[in-house]
Amino acid sequence: MQTQTKYSIKYYPGTINSVSQEGNFFYFYTEDTILELSVKTDRILRFRYAADGFFQKDFSYAVSKYASIHMTQLGFEEHAEHYEVHTAELICQIRKENLKITLLNKKHELILQDEAGFHWQHYLQKGGKINYCSKEIQPDEAFYGLGDKPTELNLRGKYLENYGTDTYGFPKDGDPLYKNIPFYMGLHSQGRQGYGIFFDNTFRTIFDFGKGDTDTASFWARGGEMNYYFIYGPDLLEVAEQYATLTGTPEMPPLWALGYHQCRWSYYPESKVKEITSEFRKRKIPCDAIYLDIDYMDGFRCFTWNKEYFPEPKRMVKELLGDGFKTVVIIDPGIKMDKDYWVWQQGIQKDYFCKRADGTLMEGDVWPGKCNFPDFTNPEVREWWSGLFRGLMETGVRGVWNDMNEPAVFEIGTFPEDVRHDYDGNPCSHRKAHNVYGMQMARATYHGVKRYMMPNRPFIITRSAYSGVQRYSSVWTGDNIATWEHLWIANVQCQRLSVSGISFAGSDVGGFIGEPDGELYTRWIQLATFHPFFRTHSSGNDTKTEQEPWSFGHKYETIVRKFINLRYQLLPYLYTAFWQYVKQGTPILRPLAYLDQNDPETHQRMDEFGYGEHILVCPVLEPGVSERNVYLPKGIWYHYEGGYVARGGQEVKVQCPLDKMPIFVKAGAVIPSFPKMQYVGESPIKEMTLHVYFQQDEEVVSTLYEDDGDNHGYKNGLYNLHKFETFGKKQDLIVTHHMENDKYESDYRQFKLVFHGVPFEAKEYIIDGKVYSLQKRNSLNNLVWIKADKHFKRIILR
Ligand code: GLC
Repeated sequence: MQTQTKYSIKYYPGTINSVSQEGNFFYFYTEDTILELSVKTDRILRFRYAADGFFQKDFSYAVSKYASIHMTQLGFEEHAEHYEVHTAELICQIRKENLKITLLNKKHELILQDEAGFHWQHYLQKGGKINYCSKEIQPDEAFYGLGDKPTELNLRGKYLENYGTDTYGFPKDGDPLYKNIPFYMGLHSQGRQGYGIFFDNTFRTIFDFGKGDTDTASFWARGGEMNYYFIYGPDLLEVAEQYATLTGTPEMPPLWALGYHQCRWSYYPESKVKEITSEFRKRKIPCDAIYLDIDYMDGFRCFTWNKEYFPEPKRMVKELLGDGFKTVVIIDPGIKMDKDYWVWQQGIQKDYFCKRADGTLMEGDVWPGKCNFPDFTNPEVREWWSGLFRGLMETGVRGVWNDMNEPAVFEIGTFPEDVRHDYDGNPCSHRKAHNVYGMQMARATYHGVKRYMMPNRPFIITRSAYSGVQRYSSVWTGDNIATWEHLWIANVQCQRLSVSGISFAGSDVGGFIGEPDGELYTRWIQLATFHPFFRTHSSGNDTKTEQEPWSFGHKYETIVRKFINLRYQLLPYLYTAFWQYVKQGTPILRPLAYLDQNDPETHQRMDEFGYGEHILVCPVLEPGVSERNVYLPKGIWYHYEGGYVARGGQEVKVQCPLDKMPIFVKAGAVIPSFPKMQYVGESPIKEMTLHVYFQQDEEVVSTLYEDDGDNHGYKNGLYNLHKFETFGKKQDLIVTHHMENDKYESDYRQFKLVFHGVPFEAKEYIIDGKVYSLQKRNSLNNLVWIKADKHFKRIILR
């Protein structure tokens, strides 16, 4: 039996002895401690608890400076047993006896209640306190979120940590991984109550969703303050949106970045790169980006080129661009200790590298050998780092890939805890800065790339992350393995990242480690067709099969081409979903519980997911399968390829031989689609197709967002926002179109409308009052299509 030492004693707050209010801030004092409760919006409250009796300087890398503070009502009352703060949506009760918090909605229904609430332990070995908070779990409660955890979507019963770790070939349930996202959501009361907790603490954070005690959810950190945001839904989708707006959303990415990307460790020399890119064009497989992994550098020195492999980078990059390929290069944080290397010289002269507690430089082995590491938590260092990108961007490179930024160090894993950081003027040890190191590197990279890319848009991808990283960068899920289990993991990770504020995410298609067979690679391509970041990547060596769309033979190549083509056709739909993410934080991928949380069946589902507003997909995750069950949430759904209709709220059997994947479209939707192309911008878009899916007696609204795709004009209003409304009846179908914004001049002049599932035999159509009769040629594969000027207002098909 473990005896209780004085270090393991837990301390609890005493009784409240005084209270004060300053605007939207409320302070509750016990003899030695203070609780600060601040109201951010009608549905977001922030809690800070100072077990020491004083607050540290308030500073956050996560919370966006644009996160607005607005509320429509604010009230404060004293009751016999508790104080009460209320907003238009929430009632927060603070018990006088022990500071325990109860959160109710305005109908007095329970959302969340403290179990032990705030408590702490002394952390004498390392300094400071371990601050805990624990909440009661409701009987049917499910938990979601927490970034990239490779485990079941519902986190109930799990114990998970955030301490960014380079986990090569991570197993299912492996923890912690690369990302640090201390944000989770709870859902209970048969789906009526959904809320979120964002624990904004950058030390190692730990979450226990009922593993230690089945009825208690606790979170704590090995240092720093208890500082969390409570976000009320009740819709999970709205919780995810509010979290994403609190921690910030990105700018619009360049449209090409939503295309297909090809990567390998590594393509070199130049002739190999060209061989790959010309193969894409020859085989008519669309591709927009080609990656250069570490071997493009001179001895792995960042911001240099290996002139033997790439004698004239500028010419090569230009030629690639001429063929539609944007070059993305890797940049790691480790700077080779080499007195003849200008980056290292500058870092040393300016004193920009991280140091140990005793003042010696932090030294670690990574690809280049012995390295020093910039302190990206220092704003001056970030500014210097941003400036280093000038050369690369002038070479014509279009994107930068930040890796190894957990930070990863060979042999020892990561930095020792005593390493010092500036932390934007709040000096601290690595224990506090570890989880934000990668994010701050991505931030500095983003600012540099953006600066030198003007007037084009930057593209950044990072492996490590902390909450808010999405403002600067996309992410991938790290070094996965070519197994069916990892295909399953990629599916849950990307859904989880999406509801954790990071929609722009993807996995290494086909698996980074090991070799997929044609079937696994093809199924992976199918899944990733619906991941906002879509890249094949693999760790290569001379004996390994290459991992390109054609590497597995003709049969697989044909199917892979079909899906990459589908990706490009759906680009305007994905781009619109991206805009909704940028605008209001709406996750692009939505786990089933986020589509219909009132249906308890959705709470445990993991395979199917929503893709944007109106599409539902379900990957095939096992070998040798030609049919699988798919759960459709409520509503009426069209099978994308088969055209047949299925009713939701039930599981349906769907045929999915290797060339097919279950894809469904919501009845009433209008899905915009591009013509075939080999890359974004290959030629002006001559025609935009709108696939209209009939739905009877219900008005359904769809959106289409478009802009230049690669400049910043949309921020000044140079974009189009189309709204389409469909309404079907027994004998006719009405499609109305209006533009909420129309300042972008698109290349195409007309829409082609293709009607799916129309239950009557259409004879004519009316465009803005003018009647046309349908001709024979207006029918293709039993579907009626028509053309209409892009400014049409109202079409009736009858
Ligand atoms: C890391 C990255 C991987 C990359 C390799 C070499 O393992 O996760 O994507 O290819 O380093 O740079």
